[in-house]
Amino acid sequence: MINVLMVCLGNICRSPLAEGILKSKVNIDQFFIDSAGTGSWHIGELPDIRSIQVAKKNNINITNQRCRQFLVEDFDEFDLIFVMDNSNYKTVISLARNDSDKRKVNLILNQIYPGDNLDVPDPYYDENRGFDRVFEMLNNACDRIAETI
Ligand code: 4NP
Repeated sequence: MINVLMVCLGNICRSPLAEGILKSKVNIDQFFIDSAGTGSWHIGELPDIRSIQVAKKNNINITNQRCRQFLVEDFDEFDLIFVMDNSNYKTVISLARNDSDKRKVNLILNQIYPGDNLDVPDPYYDENRGFDRVFEMLNNACDRIAETI
């Protein structure tokens, strides 16, 4: 079993999509995939309706997901922690207890643009088009993750 955690700020826009997309590409008997936010504003809520809609348009259902906050204990449970942007990276790294924790954390777009440290832009204040672009970026990154792990 490989445990993969997707992390963004709110856990309502980007990381729920990343979770749903990766689940759609792997054998879920071999993977445990979850998502979390560094922030606490939306705990217990459904994903943003715009993420639900862009996922649905691509035949992925993310309405079973509920927002939760990233916990230090997630370093124990997860093998790989993919963060959506550099701000999430800083927050998660600041919570790491040791080098082993830190080595689990990667920017998700470094899967397709190694070393470029690019952000998946936060679409929260965007129009719907921002969600289509985020979906495409995460779809490409998750293709690579599914191929390589
Ligand atoms: P996410 O987007 O990090 O992709 O889930 C956000 C959602 C909500 C907020 C910020 C980012 N917020 O400030 O409430």
